[in-house]
Amino acid sequence: MERYETPDLRVTLYKNGTSIRDIANEKVKDEDQDEPKREDVDDPFYLYDLGDVVTKDKLWAKLLPNVEVFFAVKSNPDPVIIRLLIGLGKSFDCASKKEIKMVLDLGASADRIIFAHPYKQESHLRFAKEKGVRLMTFDTAEELQKVKRVHPKAQLVLRIRYDDSTATFKYGSKFGCRGEEVRPLLEIAKKLGLDVVGISFHVGSESSNPQIFRDAIRFTRPLFDIGTSLGFNMKLLDLGGGFPGRLYPKATFDKFADVITRALDEHFPASSGVRIIAEPGTFHTRSAGYLVANVIAKRVNKVDINERRERVSDGDEPFIWIYYLNVGVFSGLNGKLFDPEYFDLPEPLHEPLRNRDLKPSTIFGPTCDSNDVIMANCMLPELDTGEFVLFHDMGGYTATCACDFNGFSLPPTWYIAPKEIRLVLEKTFPAQ
Ligand SMILES: Cc1ncc(COP(=O)(O)O)c(C=O)c1O
Repeated sequence: MERYETPDLRVTLYKNGTSIRDIANEKVKDEDQDEPKREDVDDPFYLYDLGDVVTKDKLWAKLLPNVEVFFAVKSNPDPVIIRLLIGLGKSFDCASKKEIKMVLDLGASADRIIFAHPYKQESHLRFAKEKGVRLMTFDTAEELQKVKRVHPKAQLVLRIRYDDSTATFKYGSKFGCRGEEVRPLLEIAKKLGLDVVGISFHVGSESSNPQIFRDAIRFTRPLFDIGTSLGFNMKLLDLGGGFPGRLYPKATFDKFADVITRALDEHFPASSGVRIIAEPGTFHTRSAGYLVANVIAKRVNKVDINERRERVSDGDEPFIWIYYLNVGVFSGLNGKLFDPEYFDLPEPLHEPLRNRDLKPSTIFGPTCDSNDVIMANCMLPELDTGEFVLFHDMGGYTATCACDFNGFSLPPTWYIAPKEIRLVLEKTFPAQ
């Protein structure tokens, strides 16, 4: 296969129309003499499609041209993705010293970073100051005192709470002040002589309710005016994350973009001079990632009827097919620990799901921990020991949280991209 290669990057370029399944099957065979071999032929691996990241970013620019992207590094701090986004002119939401350092080392300037963690470790805040990162969030008086002490020239963005009940991950119990706390907090900031420049919210990740953005933007408008009345130059609105990023989202991005555009036109029109930013993570990364894993063992158990769960109980099948993969919730399928629905069922790599009979099945990860359950009581085509399966939507918040438990490490990453983005790659990752 054609490649784009530099000393620190190797991307397999595929022809438009080639399926990820075909690309993954080629990788599994390990036959290409010019590609480095996997350590073991049955090892798992990720595929990151850089073309998907570029396509998402183009879609954002088309539908929300006036909302600047501060990519949430936490969703996937892969250096290649970060460099690609730097090349595309994006800015970054960092939550820690390490994330800030990484983004700066990869070439972003300090004014392209928001330190979007309302509770900052003091040494990390000092680091931000040393590096010239000024934009940051807060939501308590306590944090204001810390900022006054450590980084008094910071430009502060007050994070408010506005939760979407449909979001898979909600943050309101952990971050964000309530509407009635805004004035007292801004008054404290004023007394301390700090510079508050705007307001942020995060409706929760993987929202399926675009209208929540209309409500949140409308709710924010009078809070902005409180800031202005206290003498702050309120010039920034941060819409946070929450945008859909899956291959098949419940609500598509265009619906979110439409609601946001209308709400901004009404409450923060261009004439208001307010800079609008957002911190998408899931949106740019989730569907760009695929994981290929191997079925290392299989067992067919008789099921005690009392142990059956709803989803298996169709028909009289008294057995459950149990599989063990060489990736589990600790080593690459980590999103599963936080949300049982985080992934769709994997597909056998060599043939699509529809070609085999479905069996009541459970898939475990490889570790000794009984929580290492990838899918419990689902209907899957029968798999064989030794075959590979393909997971999609693996690009966000899953590799990020992996550890080496039981010696099953994070699988390596192979980058792929459609040939059409070769020019973008050449520009962003020059061969030197
Ligand atoms: C402050 C902040 N901004 C942005 C994000 C990214 O959110 P999403 O992945 O939903 O786009 C998160 C996710 O945790 C966050 O905490």
